[in-house]
Amino acid sequence: MFFNAKSVSLLLALCVGGVTAAFLSIIPDVSKTGTLVGLMISFSSTFLLTYFVLEFIFFKEIGNIHRQIHELRSNQTAKDVHPELSKKEKNPIVGIKSQIKNYAKMKEDEIAQLKQMEQYRKEFLANISHELKTPIFATQGFILTLLDGAVDDKSVRDRFLKKAAKSLNALNILVEDLLTVSKIEAGEINMEFEEFDLQIMIVDVLEQIEQKAEKKNITVSLEAPSDDPIYINADYNRLKQVVINLVVNGIKYNHKNGWVKVILDVHEDTVTIAVKDNGMGIPHEDQNRIFERFYRVEKSRTKKQGGSGLGLAICKHILERHDAVIQLESVPEEGSTFSFDLTLVKEEEYEDSEL
Ligand SMILES: Nc1ncnc2c1ncn2[C@@H]1O[C@H](COP(=O)(O)OP(=O)(O)OP(=O)(O)O)[C@@H](O)[C@H]1O
Ligand SMILES: [Mg+2]
Repeated sequence: MFFNAKSVSLLLALCVGGVTAAFLSIIPDVSKTGTLVGLMISFSSTFLLTYFVLEFIFFKEIGNIHRQIHELRSNQTAKDVHPELSKKEKNPIVGIKSQIKNYAKMKEDEIAQLKQMEQYRKEFLANISHELKTPIFATQGFILTLLDGAVDDKSVRDRFLKKAAKSLNALNILVEDLLTVSKIEAGEINMEFEEFDLQIMIVDVLEQIEQKAEKKNITVSLEAPSDDPIYINADYNRLKQVVINLVVNGIKYNHKNGWVKVILDVHEDTVTIAVKDNGMGIPHEDQNRIFERFYRVEKSRTKKQGGSGLGLAICKHILERHDAVIQLESVPEEGSTFSFDLTLVKEEEYEDSEL
């Protein structure tokens, strides 16, 4: 619709001019020239007056409001705004309507997002207090018992001191993990990418974890297509942290005499790393949530198997920084497979970079 100062003034001037001419034409004393002059005067004066009022008062003010909303939306200050409005928005009334609609939608989305963040924050605080409380209370308990007299019995004293040290160690790991998560989330940790052989790293991890596995009589093995090196470009230590957490989870959430396999599948440009176990598995309803901070499957929590529940959240973040997505397939009481893909560095490229 042509709803602007010029067209509205023209329409109004035509009406007023027409009415004036019709009125003058029915007066017998007024000549044709007089009617024409009357028509022209009323037409032009109505046009000018209406145009002036609309353009310089009404539309100018609406235009200002329109521009202010525009500025507000683009989060800019009045100074650096050059209100080049789109064609559609040249009509300030149409523009103002769509701007207000968009603005309201934007604010609605923002409010929903803030509410969700608030919910996360509440859950996070509740979880963190719970996680911190457990080792602090345990340590406090051991120390108070010692102070109450148990300190005189050498064997009890040593046992309780060791337990207190273990709880403090758990507290330290929790705080370290929390720092890692918050630093990665804030983008403060830079990955140190380097090229290395994935097989060597995995063998290193398995050697490191051997003892833990032996305690539960769990077999941990590597399955790779061959002994040939598999070169990738990644942050060695961080990726090792990912594989360690996945393999340790496979051991922790497994039954005695179980197995954990690290399976490497080499494709044309990528390698799939899968950590498979025949342990407890993860119920379907928990599968989407176990990558959240502190989330643990209730069953395993009660069995006191779990650590801080931050391991998979850290893994997910680290892998995201490697452009990889962690996948999970799990069947309760049958086992779980966590897997992700990394880009291969071709042998020639690796040799070139070594020169
Ligand atoms: N292989 C698995 N089999 C069964 N359940 C698993 C497995 N891996 C993880 N889970 C479940 O997912 C939860 C989250 O795992 P995550 O590694 O994040 O934490 P955690 O092992 O409890 O503690 P952390 O790794 O910080 O020491 C675990 O508590 C467990 O309930
Ligand atoms: Mg873990």
